[in-house]
Amino acid sequence: MLEQQPMSPQTFPRTSSPSDTGGPTDPLSAVSHPSPYPYYAGLAEGPGIFLDSKNSVWVASRSVVIQEIVSHPACRVRPVAEPVPKALAGSAAGDIFRRLVRMNDGAGHCPFKQAISASLQSLSLADMEQQGSIWSRHLAELHFDAEDDGWLDRFAVQMPVYVVASLLGVPQSELPETAILMQDFVACLAPGCNEQQLERGKLAAAKLLENFSGMQERENPGLLLQLRRQAALLGCEDPTVIAANGIGLMSQAYEATAGLIANTLYVLAGDAPLRRQILADADLLRACIDEVLRYDPSVQNTRRFVAEDCEIAGQVLQAGDTILLVLAAANRDPSVNSQPQLFELQRSQRRYFTFGHGAHLCPGPSLAAVIAHAAIHQLCSMDLNFERLATARKFHPSANIRMRLYGA
Ligand code: HEM
Repeated sequence: MLEQQPMSPQTFPRTSSPSDTGGPTDPLSAVSHPSPYPYYAGLAEGPGIFLDSKNSVWVASRSVVIQEIVSHPACRVRPVAEPVPKALAGSAAGDIFRRLVRMNDGAGHCPFKQAISASLQSLSLADMEQQGSIWSRHLAELHFDAEDDGWLDRFAVQMPVYVVASLLGVPQSELPETAILMQDFVACLAPGCNEQQLERGKLAAAKLLENFSGMQERENPGLLLQLRRQAALLGCEDPTVIAANGIGLMSQAYEATAGLIANTLYVLAGDAPLRRQILADADLLRACIDEVLRYDPSVQNTRRFVAEDCEIAGQVLQAGDTILLVLAAANRDPSVNSQPQLFELQRSQRRYFTFGHGAHLCPGPSLAAVIAHAAIHQLCSMDLNFERLATARKFHPSANIRMRLYGA
């Protein structure tokens, strides 16, 4: 343990206030600000870690510091005193939450994480692409509305659920219900959700658990069965852990992949020649999605909770502190990507932190890219009013997900 020191945090020494330029004033409001990147670039010039007293979080934005934090044993994915958010405790939503690998360190994380990674790796590219293509066409036909671009928001959020759920083995007839349940479940996980959202989310979680337990009894072919087999190889036979993490694949994929679709569409909406090229060149579309993941990522930050006093980037942090890791800023750290403020399709040695880093690294990048590819290919082959889409200025309200909205 480090000696206790009086709190003398490094606050970020701003030479010019970001609010002077109409930019965001803190890293949480930056997530849904139209232009957060000059602010993030300013953070990179400041100390490796500083205290944002408005939000009561330490903020880290340089790649090297983020890597230090995610591999530091004192930095955990949940506060030690609150493994499950108080509002979810005792509910089905809490039952799912506390079993997710994402929300556990130590035994609750590994070896089950290996089972998840192995199951996702067992998916063939052809199967993922087929599901992407089926559901992008279906959802575009279902939601298209020439008068209201808000249909694109529904399309983007439902794509990941339909593809991941069908890969898991959810029957086609149950996909619309699963998409609604997932929307309610994810909403109740967001900090600051209201009482009604909380209650709806808990009910949705109970139904999802029931459905995913039932699927295991039916021996449905698919990713859920793979997960069960892989988990059994590692000595885990608990059906609730398997159900929770099957649901977790959908909830993890949900807004992050929807944001990737929405943010890629925005880049292409303003560039007609590129839109035409990506329709004929799958590699170019892949490169475009990859650069959006770096340049304007859907997941802008993640958090770690300090379990015991420790020193990070020369600053003493105390047990109970929270750290915000600004992944989107690290993507533009000039020490990892040259000329980081440029959007470059053919960028050599592109590096980004959008999928995290270290033990909790996301196991879903390939699937996310396939889903986004199918969605964007579908949208760019439609006769949409791209000029209007290029003027979209609204964002999904969130403290970590950046997702452009197209509805009025
Ligand atoms: C663009 C899409 C996606 C982004 C940006 C994204 C981002 C992330 C990030 C940043 C983490 C780590 C969080 C942390 O360390 O604090 C994570 C974890 C995770 N993601 Fe993703 N994700 C995406 C899509 C997916 C998909 C499609 C799946 C699976 C179907 C998935 C499954 C998971 C799981 C299971 C974890 C927890 C891993 C662990 O804790 O060890 N994600 N994701």
